Amino acid sequence: MCGIIGYIGTKEVVPVLIDGLRRLEYRGYDSAGVAVVRRGAVDLRRSAGKLSRLEEVIRAEPIQGDYGLGHTRWATHGRPTEENAHPHRDCTGNIVVVHNGIIENYLELKRQLQTEGHRFVTETDTEIVAHLVEREMRDDGLENAVRRALLLLRGSFAIVLIAAHDPEKIVAVRNGPPVVVGLGEDEFFVASDIPAILSHTRDVVFLADEEMAVVTRSRVAFTDFSGAPVSKTTQRVQWDPILAEKAGYKHFMLKEIFEQPAAVRDTVLGRISLETGRVFLDEIKVSDTDLRQIEKVTILACGTSWHAGLVGKYLIEQLALLPVDVDYGSEYRYRKPIVDAKTLGIVITQSGETADTLAALREARRLGARSIAICNVVGSMATRECEGTVYTHAGPEIGVASTKAFTTQLVALHLLALYLAQVRGTLSPEETDAQLKALVQMPQLLDQTLKDCGPVTEEISKRFHARTDFLYLGRGINYPIALEGALKLKEISYIHAEGYPAGEMKHGPIALIDEQMPVVALAPRDHVFEKMIGNIQEVKARGGCVVALTTRGDHDLAGLLDPKVDVILPLAPTHPLLTPVLLVVPLQLISYHIAVRRGCDVDQPRNLAKSVTVE
Ligand code: AGP
Repeated sequence: MCGIIGYIGTKEVVPVLIDGLRRLEYRGYDSAGVAVVRRGAVDLRRSAGKLSRLEEVIRAEPIQGDYGLGHTRWATHGRPTEENAHPHRDCTGNIVVVHNGIIENYLELKRQLQTEGHRFVTETDTEIVAHLVEREMRDDGLENAVRRALLLLRGSFAIVLIAAHDPEKIVAVRNGPPVVVGLGEDEFFVASDIPAILSHTRDVVFLADEEMAVVTRSRVAFTDFSGAPVSKTTQRVQWDPILAEKAGYKHFMLKEIFEQPAAVRDTVLGRISLETGRVFLDEIKVSDTDLRQIEKVTILACGTSWHAGLVGKYLIEQLALLPVDVDYGSEYRYRKPIVDAKTLGIVITQSGETADTLAALREARRLGARSIAICNVVGSMATRECEGTVYTHAGPEIGVASTKAFTTQLVALHLLALYLAQVRGTLSPEETDAQLKALVQMPQLLDQTLKDCGPVTEEISKRFHARTDFLYLGRGINYPIALEGALKLKEISYIHAEGYPAGEMKHGPIALIDEQMPVVALAPRDHVFEKMIGNIQEVKARGGCVVALTTRGDHDLAGLLDPKVDVILPLAPTHPLLTPVLLVVPLQLISYHIAVRRGCDVDQPRNLAKSVTVE
């Protein structure tokens, strides 16, 4: 989720680029850079850190050009350093590229280009595009060299390029992440999102997947990747700039809830092969031999990430047949844990900077444990202190309440459990195949879930937003989702809510049941469905009101519930081990709509911080 801006026109170039990047900084902010072309030569400035650092660099060493590109980075491959900051160049320095997304086959292309003599200076996947285009350059223009290069690229990418030896031209391509072309008065813009150009023009053209824009000072030509012209419609953007940063959503949290299909897709992309039934996690630096020596797993995390860890316990125990315990970061180091070199410590942390989680990681490593991080921020402390990181490619999560980071943590844990099973030989090819197919289907099921549960979650918030207490019940792998649903409601609507294993209700919480306290029951069709039905009946027998999440087409519940009091929320079926990924989405939306109705600050709830860097 990086920010891209390109400009060619009559204004001074660098201020336009910097202003555009500032309006995109919410998309990623761990490094930034600009490149311009003047009199046939490329000049660029880059810096690690926030955009303000780049502005200091430019003040110290000014840069001017006739047209150019800018980029603010959310690292997915390669640490957030100056040399990894975009723009990137080829061997000659004449071809300049900025990129958003993931080049899935970058390693094999990099090796091939290196054998042909290309010299690489970064750890990024992006740099291979510059060298590939360099190799494909002939005398038929930058756009045709890019078309030949595109035939070799796999992955999801938005790429924008300029070349000093084919001047006065910007080439942009889209295959996944958005690319928008701004049509101004004697000036044109290319950007990854509308906010970058809204202060200059409201007339835009959105590229579709597998389309290219060739922008010169006088016109824009739109083609497909083969070069065939495509007709495009100019749209007039009505948003105000603030709304634009949220892509039209009222809050970042809602935007991030709806980004989950893409975030899950990007987290799985390039890490599995349906053909061979294999999982690839190259970033794990613990060798397969050492992984085979592991006798137990300890998962360390806080908050929502701890809930992901509880799901991870079910996944790793059932798929890799390894015993797993899950600990709060803040508790772990005070309980004198039993750890040795045959313990694998897995820290789960969106920010990679949570003090309690880092302290637990350091204790586990001090006691001899091996270590892997599941993290969303490249180069964060946890990734630097673990022996390997499985990155969630969720992009920056701005809302304090974690949503897309959570579902991508679940998917990353699923991949890790399958990888451990692969190394230990604990899963049959048939079961592996079933798991991989279910994983690949998740983005589409999440899309469907978001479409299906919008109206009913608004209805639930309308009916229950004034209640003062909620109880969330789940069983098995979905019990952690009951905890997560309760936390989401607590942290953004300030309503007291508790998550409980449904079987525990009769050991105390059942005393709370009355017609005032909604009971959210997670009852998908699985091996404990009948037990959940029993718990729902216990609630109804005491006059309670139930919000039941169940598998679409299941009519067993309809006869038990009263539509005037209760609500049934049907969901698509999926593999039981992936049900948590779907179940949490309506709970996120219920919390969101209730918080909005209560006038709460959804993106920055009171007393909370996005990353708790103090113990
Ligand atoms: C979740 O909605 C909260 N923002 C909080 O519980 C968070 O999950 C916790 O602080 C851990 O943060 P981390 O994943 O960045 O380590």
